[in-house]
Amino acid sequence: MRLLRLAIIGALATGALVLAWLSVPSSSPVVITEESSSRDPGMAERGAYVVRAAGCISCHWDRKGSGIAFAGGRALATPFGVFYSPNLTPDVETGIGGWSDEDFVRAVTWGEGIHGEQLYPVFPYTSYSAMGVSDVLAIKAYLFTLKPVKAPQLENKISFPFSWRALMKGWKLLFVDSPQNEDWPRGEYLVRALGHCGQCHTPRNFFGALDGGAHLQGNRSGPDGWRVPALVGATKSNFADWSVEEIAEYLKSGVKPDFDSAQGPMAEVIEDNTKHLTSEDRRAIALYLKSLNQH
Ligand code: HEC
Ligand code: HEC
Repeated sequence: MRLLRLAIIGALATGALVLAWLSVPSSSPVVITEESSSRDPGMAERGAYVVRAAGCISCHWDRKGSGIAFAGGRALATPFGVFYSPNLTPDVETGIGGWSDEDFVRAVTWGEGIHGEQLYPVFPYTSYSAMGVSDVLAIKAYLFTLKPVKAPQLENKISFPFSWRALMKGWKLLFVDSPQNEDWPRGEYLVRALGHCGQCHTPRNFFGALDGGAHLQGNRSGPDGWRVPALVGATKSNFADWSVEEIAEYLKSGVKPDFDSAQGPMAEVIEDNTKHLTSEDRRAIALYLKSLNQH
């Protein structure tokens, strides 16, 4: 079954790729319209907060292997193979030290690397595509204040046809469509763009893309085999009954209304991301999640 699925995905992705090449100009659709630069004053400070809200550190740090924060090297197991996160410190040779603002925005919001290569969506740019350019550049400004670390890329262990990066071009045209959406209400922006909560809480379709029609409705096969509970229309848990205060408290301390505590990947999200947010931002997330449960 799995092999069949892989074969079909491969065939469809190839078709999509051909279509993509026929129908679009080769450059990416990323347009930097704002007059903002990672060198603007205050950007690095702002970026220190945004980078938390976006959870970048969780993946770009091989914490278990005693790596250095943002120097990459964390192994991420997926049904397509094992990916190793790259080095985001400003080392010119092995990190992003030589990247321009455009290069960075293109990678984060469109999944295209510095040499024009297609990046795999294990890097959740399908959510970050909705980030505002100035937030992306604030992150870059912050990363450039870090000490450069020499940490060469570890080789991904993925099998053919997925090892063929160009396939992602077709996949992206089919599945990345959200434009920059900074003007979403704050809670929605934090959940859908920065927090990329749907990357775990939304089920995936046949092609491994988020099922937009089932936003946050839970996912039986989350990272490392975790069952990820529904945050919308939950039937197996009482999440819909949690109050705004209870949701906000969980995002701060990991403690649930029944005094159980968050486990696994969610414990990591709280530790790396939501506990560092302002209480206003946690409340905005809670209000947004509540609003999705009111009909
Ligand atoms: C769920 C894990 C995950 C999260 C969260 C994540 N990344 Fe990544 N990122 C990856 C992986 C894996 C790759 C490599 C993808 C590939 O090989 O195609 C990557 C690639 C990148 C690249 C391209 C680097 C290069 O050398 O080509 C940049 C830039 C980047 N990420 C920045 C970020 C930023 C900024 C954030 C937060 C806004 C972030 N990432 C969050 C996993 C993640
Ligand atoms: C890396 C995957 C991942 C991401 C990203 C993620 N979650 Fe979770 N979440 C989980 C898992 C797994 C659980 C179940 C944890 C447990 O059993 O203790 C969970 C549980 C929860 C719960 C408790 C629900 C219940 O019924 O017990 C809430 C609330 C929650 N997440 C909110 C969020 C929000 C808000 C975000 C985005 C800021 C988010 N999650 C991002 C994986 C994730």
